[in-house]
Amino acid sequence: MNSRLAGGPAGATDPLDEPVELSRLLPDTELDELVGTFAAAHDCAVVIADREGRILAQAGAASTAAAVTPIEYLGETVGSVAIDLDPPRPVVGRHMAHVIELLLHHAHARRLAGVVHEAAIASSVAELTAKNRSLEAAVDRLRAADRVKSNFLATMSHELRTPLTSVIGYSEMLLEGLAGPLAPEQRDYVNTILGKADQLLQLITSVLDMSRAEGAGGVVDVAPVAMTELVDSVVASFAPQAAKRGVRIVQEVAAVRALGDRRQIRQVVWNLVSNAVKFTADGTDVVVAVHIGPLVPVGSGTRPDLRIGIHVEVRDQGIGISRDQLAHIFEPFFQVDSSSTRVYGGTGLGLALAKAYVEAHGGRIWVDSTPGQGSTFVASFPAVAVDLRPGRSS
Ligand SMILES: Nc1ncnc2c1ncn2[C@@H]1O[C@H](COP(=O)(O)OP(=O)(O)O)[C@@H](O)[C@H]1O
Ligand SMILES: [Mg+2]
Repeated sequence: MNSRLAGGPAGATDPLDEPVELSRLLPDTELDELVGTFAAAHDCAVVIADREGRILAQAGAASTAAAVTPIEYLGETVGSVAIDLDPPRPVVGRHMAHVIELLLHHAHARRLAGVVHEAAIASSVAELTAKNRSLEAAVDRLRAADRVKSNFLATMSHELRTPLTSVIGYSEMLLEGLAGPLAPEQRDYVNTILGKADQLLQLITSVLDMSRAEGAGGVVDVAPVAMTELVDSVVASFAPQAAKRGVRIVQEVAAVRALGDRRQIRQVVWNLVSNAVKFTADGTDVVVAVHIGPLVPVGSGTRPDLRIGIHVEVRDQGIGISRDQLAHIFEPFFQVDSSSTRVYGGTGLGLALAKAYVEAHGGRIWVDSTPGQGSTFVASFPAVAVDLRPGRSS
């Protein structure tokens, strides 16, 4: 038997080329119904067979005297209709054959449309798969390049710090008079050297932290971190400089504990408070609030994460950040105003580092700001489990 006729393995032939088979295109039920209706209408026996003479549907038993009409489709005989009528009426057989030919025509058209559609889908799937593969390769190359960059930065920063500590150390020795008394002008110069060296050390430290954070891919030291004490110590280190400008730092800190790397969490809070104090207007309040909240803000990303975290919220009443700039605020070295470095100092690494640390903890950092009114930065961290039912505390 021809394997193609028997519905041989798909792919062995071009589906557009496959032979027209009555049994494949017209389901048994459709043929049975047709045959039944015809036999009842004309009170006769009807038998439909395929091109090999196998019976596909029948109503009653046709005798050898039955009139046989071929079913023709696309110039081929694809089957036959046998009608047993007494007296014989060949037109009934032709009519029936015609109806089947029409049904076949429609079914075949649907099948061809389906095949073409499938082919179109298969080719776009293949195209997408190829694109995906090349994207994956590109991502791999980028990752490798990124690792090289991070290693380079880490090594460079380390190498730069060593001589810098000597510059700072010797400057301090000069100021302390260890090499003899300094004239006022000399003292001025050494102070400038010391100031600039400190600035450079800060930059190098930030760059080193950044490259470490990017390379680490997670948090190393995880422990409960009491937020009240952490915020206290950060606020204390800004109090003198804030007081000089009449800025109050208000703490609204719940007795909660974060679960993470204390040094990193402190750095995040430090960076946010540093910005708030730097950018808030003279004589205004900076508020540092810590409370319980979802680890990932509601509505961010496709997978809502309902794990409980703590939110560190830092509010200021400063210049604010415009919508355009908000999109870039967490990028390394981004500063809204390049003259900001001159006016306020800083390197543009504070928020990028904060984001890297927060995300290493599985948390998020975001900002809400109105230009001219102020900004609210929120960083979320995992929390030590707490019982949120009223009247209970951990
Ligand atoms: N609280 C804030 N109010 C207004 N602008 C801010 C605030 N925090 C950050 N910015 C803007 O984002 C920039 C990047 O901040 P950051 O990464 O901390 O760098 P840096 O403080 O060294 O400039 C700042 O230069 C400033 O333009
Ligand atoms: Mg900063």
